[in-house]
Amino acid sequence: MDTRSIGVFDSGLGGLTAVRQLRRLMPSENIIYFGDTARVPYGNRSRETLLQYARQDMRFLSSFDLKAVVIACGTVSTNCLEELRAESGVPVTGVVEPAVERAAALTRSGKIGLAATRASVASGAYERAFRRLDPALEVHALACPLFVPLVEEGRCRPGDTVIETVAAEYLAPLKEVGVDTLVLGCTHYPLLAEVIGGVMGPEVSLVDVGAEAARACRDLLAAADALANRGEGSVRFYTSDRAVNFRRLAALFLGEEAAGAVEQVDIFQY
Ligand code: DGL
Repeated sequence: MDTRSIGVFDSGLGGLTAVRQLRRLMPSENIIYFGDTARVPYGNRSRETLLQYARQDMRFLSSFDLKAVVIACGTVSTNCLEELRAESGVPVTGVVEPAVERAAALTRSGKIGLAATRASVASGAYERAFRRLDPALEVHALACPLFVPLVEEGRCRPGDTVIETVAAEYLAPLKEVGVDTLVLGCTHYPLLAEVIGGVMGPEVSLVDVGAEAARACRDLLAAADALANRGEGSVRFYTSDRAVNFRRLAALFLGEEAAGAVEQVDIFQY
């Protein structure tokens, strides 16, 4: 048993969808969450900038006594995982490998779609991971840069004509090639699951990358006999911009109120 915390970070609020799954799977764990709301979005930035931001995020989390880190950001996972893993003193779980394993297990046709940020698609990380697992899989990747700002504006529900129009236009090429599995490669996208599911149709399986990363983290801790397994865990939230803004939107991503403190930190110091 290991009662140290799990550190989780994202460019902003999207990573809270992974926290939601971590809490569902491992209610006894203590979680430290950092959302870089001062610098969100990460999805259109260069790899150099992403690495600089992600290293600061990791250095902040490393100021706590952690047993593992979950990179709950698709963009950082696709662009910086190797460096962050090599530099970290504790195991680091990204979203790509767990999501790829799940998608490969779900697909029947071998045609898999990926919807993600521009930087995630440009990295080619998903294609490489699918190729390692099964070179016969066909991967169709698509950047959806308007999804994140629309989710952050709360425009994510079925019946909202703006998000429905954007989703229909973005996803048309994936419908055209007939993917049967779609990886929602950004941790903001689970909030669009109903809208995306409505466009793609019920026969297409959706993969929530944050949920898969949470499962992978649980498996990793279980294998190392490092689960907390005792009492009710807590979550502490840190944000690089105003805490009041974080708290206002957090419930949407978390599925519950952000109980406990939300503290602002100066990420530029790290
Ligand atoms: N949550 C980030 C991700 O999973 C996307 C938001 C952003 O562009 O910063 O890629």
